[in-house]
Amino acid sequence: MTKKLRVAIVGMGNIGNRHAQVYTKRDDCEIVAVCDIIKEKADKAAAAYGAKAFYSIQEMVNSGIEIDAASMTTAGVENGGDHYQATMELLEAGIPTLGEKPISNNTEEAEEMVATARKKGLRYAIDLNHRFTPAALKAKGWVQEGRLGELNMIMMRMWINNPNESSPWFHMRALHPHSFDVMQYFGGEIEKVQTFLKKGEGRKIWSNAQVNVMFKNGIIGHLVGSYDAGGSYGLEQLEVVGSKGRFVLQEACQHLTYYPRFSMETETFDFVGGMMHFNETFDARIGRWVEQNLAGAAPEEIDGSGYDGLKVQRVIEAAIESWETGKIVTVK
Ligand SMILES: NC(=O)c1ccc[n+]([C@@H]2O[C@H](COP(=O)([O-])OP(=O)(O)OC[C@H]3O[C@@H](n4cnc5c(N)ncnc54)[C@H](O)[C@@H]3O)[C@@H](O)[C@H]2O)c1
Repeated sequence: MTKKLRVAIVGMGNIGNRHAQVYTKRDDCEIVAVCDIIKEKADKAAAAYGAKAFYSIQEMVNSGIEIDAASMTTAGVENGGDHYQATMELLEAGIPTLGEKPISNNTEEAEEMVATARKKGLRYAIDLNHRFTPAALKAKGWVQEGRLGELNMIMMRMWINNPNESSPWFHMRALHPHSFDVMQYFGGEIEKVQTFLKKGEGRKIWSNAQVNVMFKNGIIGHLVGSYDAGGSYGLEQLEVVGSKGRFVLQEACQHLTYYPRFSMETETFDFVGGMMHFNETFDARIGRWVEQNLAGAAPEEIDGSGYDGLKVQRVIEAAIESWETGKIVTVK
């Protein structure tokens, strides 16, 4: 029998359990350890997934249990404040780690996390799941084979309902790692940003955003984002426009349409690869992580890497600086 990937999950909240459900469905991996500082959560997960429960990462790594890779699914301030400590403990113990987004809500910490993985020669990835759908991969193929011609514009819209008021930058730092990552996946690195923000009705935080972007290769575009605009159909829409044609990708996986520039013959693909729902994006992303680990991929070959996670945080911090200064800001 081929080797199974022995997995640990740290942080058994909603998303840790979602990761667990993905691993459980696969026959090429097994969950050997679950860890949460809240004993009841670790115990409940251990019983559900047939794994050993731990109540701290140190206890887990010192136990001698053999772990091939970990999911790091803690949250914290701006959904990323707890990521640094937990990730560093896993990396320092030599464990390849798939972290949740944002890599961290603090870019200095994120730099250190990426540098530590590099220094130790470890695979380190972030759950930038939106770009791992079969529909996104199909669209990426079109771009690579030149079907769109020279890319000119990338427009991204992402909005959900989120009433959380914990930090002025919560919406920017917690939601838009996804949006900017998808934009950079298709357009390369973003070089300059210019931001306009609006607080939603009765809100204290910047819950609506318009960020104009210019990519290093000259492509232009924008992100429209909101924590006030969800509720009905239409969470996410990406449009990539080239000299020969354009595509529109809706809901990360559900509908992909190609519009040739000089013809009316559009092509629409619904639920590409059988993926029906956003929740299944976790299967695609985590599946790729499992496969790359089992194949012994080099750290620099990992898709949706820690470095990709760091690059989106740099864009987000530049976007915040642009709003605070009223200037166009170059991404560091
Ligand atoms: N990729 C996506 O599409 C997506 C979607 C939603 C949320 N997320 C991300 O998932 C992460 C988790 O979100 P959630 O809603 O499950 O959060 P949550 O608060 O429900 O769960 C986090 C868990 O981590 C535990 N924890 C904290 N520090 C720990 C430590 N040092 N060791 C062990 N356990 C620790 C907490 O006790 C808690 O049970 C967030 O970073 C969020 O941004 C990603």
